[in-house]
Amino acid sequence: MKKKVLLMGNHDTGSGKTSMRSIIFSNNLASATSRFGATIDVEMNHVRFLGSLVLNLWDCGGQETFLDSYLASQRNTIFRDVGVLIYVFDVETRDFERDISYYIECLDACRKNSPEADIFVLIHKMDLVTGGKRERTRAFELKKRELDKYSGSTPIKMFGTSIWDETLYKAWSRIVHTLIPNAPLLSSHLTSFAKICSAIEIVLFERTTFLIIARSGTSTGDLDDVIPPEAGPDSDPNVINPERFEKVSQLIKAFKVSCSRMQEQFHSMEIRFPNYTAVLELMTTNTYVMAIVADPNVQTATLRLNIRLARERFE
Ligand code: GTP
Repeated sequence: MKKKVLLMGNHDTGSGKTSMRSIIFSNNLASATSRFGATIDVEMNHVRFLGSLVLNLWDCGGQETFLDSYLASQRNTIFRDVGVLIYVFDVETRDFERDISYYIECLDACRKNSPEADIFVLIHKMDLVTGGKRERTRAFELKKRELDKYSGSTPIKMFGTSIWDETLYKAWSRIVHTLIPNAPLLSSHLTSFAKICSAIEIVLFERTTFLIIARSGTSTGDLDDVIPPEAGPDSDPNVINPERFEKVSQLIKAFKVSCSRMQEQFHSMEIRFPNYTAVLELMTTNTYVMAIVADPNVQTATLRLNIRLARERFE
């Protein structure tokens, strides 16, 4: 299966499209992106995802001359057969009105040429908002409210993102999740598998990007529709971080990049907390699995054996 993914957004100094693409799909670190030059016209890349899914990434340069050309002479080529449009705004833009006018035009061109396309908006570089989480949430909500006015009747999913934290993985996991055909089935298998292993949570990551594919405890397969896991013996369920798996994506991805720089390969990991143990193992050719257990009687060797035995079923 092949899906065209359009990465768009206008900003003369770069809204961050190439940076996020290279971190997610080319194993670059965020610190390396400051050296990137502007994208000239369109850069196309094919990325294999989960073995059989090919993402045809169109990274469209965001300078105005290019955008004018996409909307005029290249309109049919750019906006035809789009599976997903990701429109990236720089949260610190100095000309939001100009950005919005391009956004409206691109949205219109995409809806006319590819009515089936899923559309996402990323309000990016959230790390530049001064203050803490509350200020970032307020800045995001303000921009979102403004953009909602111009997004038409079909609701558009919007995320606040930054290359410097887990928000990038949260947004991209939700985006690629829409392209995975059997996500609800995968989630229900993971829920059964968690019960068999006495695990409180199990999550599946794509092998190279470390994006979240599916997790246990959801009936619909929707990554956000999750019943909170059973609390460990002494833990307060309210302190469980809702973004814990995206954080794992971010940390393990950076760790894998470091391993490969040392000419080493990452295989598996076991992490012990006072109330939990997490085991991260290769599941199938294209996925890693992470199982979390709270029961101190469950041996991690048994957990690993169960993962090995389940491989065939998830392949
Ligand atoms: P064009 O190719 O010209 O369309 O630009 P682009 O949208 O591809 O932007 P690019 O990825 O080249 O990033 C431009 C600059 O923004 C680089 O210096 C990046 O390091 C920086 N950048 C990207 N993402 C973030 C982010 O989340 N936070 C901050 N602070 N800087 C970012």
